[in-house]
Amino acid sequence: MKKHLDFNYFKESADYILSKIEFMPEIAIVLGSCLGNLADEIENKIIIDYKDIPNFLDATVESHAGKLILGDLSGKKVVCMSGRFHYYEGYDFEELTIPMRVMHLLGCKSVILTNAAGAVNKDFLAGDIMIIKDHIKLNGASPVRGKNLEEFGPRFFDMSNTYNKDYIKLAKKAAQVSKLDIKEGVYFYMPGPQFETPAEIRAIRVLGGDAVGMSTVTEAIVAAHCGMKVLGLSLMTNMAAGILEVPLTTDEVDKTAEKSAEKFKVLLKNILKEI
Ligand code: HPA
Repeated sequence: MKKHLDFNYFKESADYILSKIEFMPEIAIVLGSCLGNLADEIENKIIIDYKDIPNFLDATVESHAGKLILGDLSGKKVVCMSGRFHYYEGYDFEELTIPMRVMHLLGCKSVILTNAAGAVNKDFLAGDIMIIKDHIKLNGASPVRGKNLEEFGPRFFDMSNTYNKDYIKLAKKAAQVSKLDIKEGVYFYMPGPQFETPAEIRAIRVLGGDAVGMSTVTEAIVAAHCGMKVLGLSLMTNMAAGILEVPLTTDEVDKTAEKSAEKFKVLLKNILKEI
């Protein structure tokens, strides 16, 4: 039978990171595809390669750097994950608990999860930013399946306030300050790596999804389990499959992410000031 990860497994990673810094970060930030340049703005930074952290995972996607950047941003002590892990890379759902559990053990009480997503809601446009108010995950296992680790949280736990309502208000206010027309909606998880079919997108729309993507939800579940407050922000890098007549490409996703990186950065910094 497969070996389950125990509490010490996560603690070894956290202890290594804590041995490299002289503070405890308050807020974790997970940067989605091509949003990595926010990390350039972190002051007094300490950079740790994922591959040097015991028991951590290594990023395999080209647009994900695979570095942990710790330091000051907008007056807050942050730990930034430049590069995240997805089910489609071949990890088990259980392995996908590692990042959030390690962030929790570093002392983070909150996490900002960012991602690139396809717009399912036809009122959205490529380049729009959506505050995640809730998510739908109907496929794949839960990352916290298996023996429960009570050190992190209870066996059964509430998911009705996963995306913190105060943070949603605060993000809307920060968007106003940034003069940004921000959207709000439901993120629908799909495991990928293939983009969805037009029929899948129609089904997702009927089910209540406004955006679709291959990340974030596993992290939000693990964060909710250990009581971290979550803010989720999705950048619409493309209209989801079947809305426009053109096929989806990674190139389009990367180009929109690159074009929107600056406004995303401004928004995140304004949010951090208020958090
Ligand atoms: N589908 C799934 N994931 C994505 C998409 C999409 O259209 N765009 C960016 N990430």
